[in-house]
Amino acid sequence: MKAFKILLSAVCACSLFSCTAPAQQEAKAEDGKNQVIETIMTRRSVRKYQPQAVNRDTMQIIMECGINAPNAINRQAWEVRIVDNPEVIKKLTELYVKDNPKEAENPNFKNMFRNAPTVAFIANDTTFAYSPVDCGLMAENMILSAWSMGIGSCCLGGPARFMKANPEAKEYLKQMGFSENYELLLCIGFGYPAETPKAKPRDAAKVKFMD
Ligand SMILES: Cc1cc2nc3c(=O)[nH]c(=O)nc-3n(C[C@H](O)[C@H](O)[C@H](O)COP(=O)(O)O)c2cc1C
Repeated sequence: MKAFKILLSAVCACSLFSCTAPAQQEAKAEDGKNQVIETIMTRRSVRKYQPQAVNRDTMQIIMECGINAPNAINRQAWEVRIVDNPEVIKKLTELYVKDNPKEAENPNFKNMFRNAPTVAFIANDTTFAYSPVDCGLMAENMILSAWSMGIGSCCLGGPARFMKANPEAKEYLKQMGFSENYELLLCIGFGYPAETPKAKPRDAAKVKFMD
């Protein structure tokens, strides 16, 4: 009987929490003080950074948030490599500049990852249809958690395309040791921001409520 009472009070406590927590969130959202909404609405892609790589403890938190993203049947069909070795970023950039010499003429150009000192390489499982979705959701968790801690980022498709196409860059991909059937999908550059970009316009008309 005692055990039943404990179980009952635990169930009541859980259902109370699940009833009240969203209501509190909704009230906060209305007066604009919800921190998640604030983070989402203030985040912008950053392409100018301070030179130092992101602290690895902070990257660890970012990755913890990443792998806690929703993902199809919890298969976690993603693999990630974090690179903050300036030599590797420099060598890859040299290859990139050989093929894209004009880009290096930009006085703001520091590297091919939109100048970020820390880069996450995200690979998807090519045998699992939802894997790119899972990777995208993970990426957004990483980007938003980073921004909530003052770390800027930029999601990058271009460098991933380049690395898969350029034979010398492919060697770096090999060294990353992604599992069989995994393929680089996107990169995310991270760093301490040295700019505060303005929001680009969004088309709200793409969203319609159906009655
Ligand atoms: C899948 C994906 C690929 C992207 N690839 C690049 C890229 O190669 N180079 C770049 O500078 N930005 C890239 N971006 C960043 C977008 O340009 C940026 O998110 C968009 O213009 C909206 O701006 P905002 O992030 O500041 O809101 C990419 C974003 C996504 C989601």
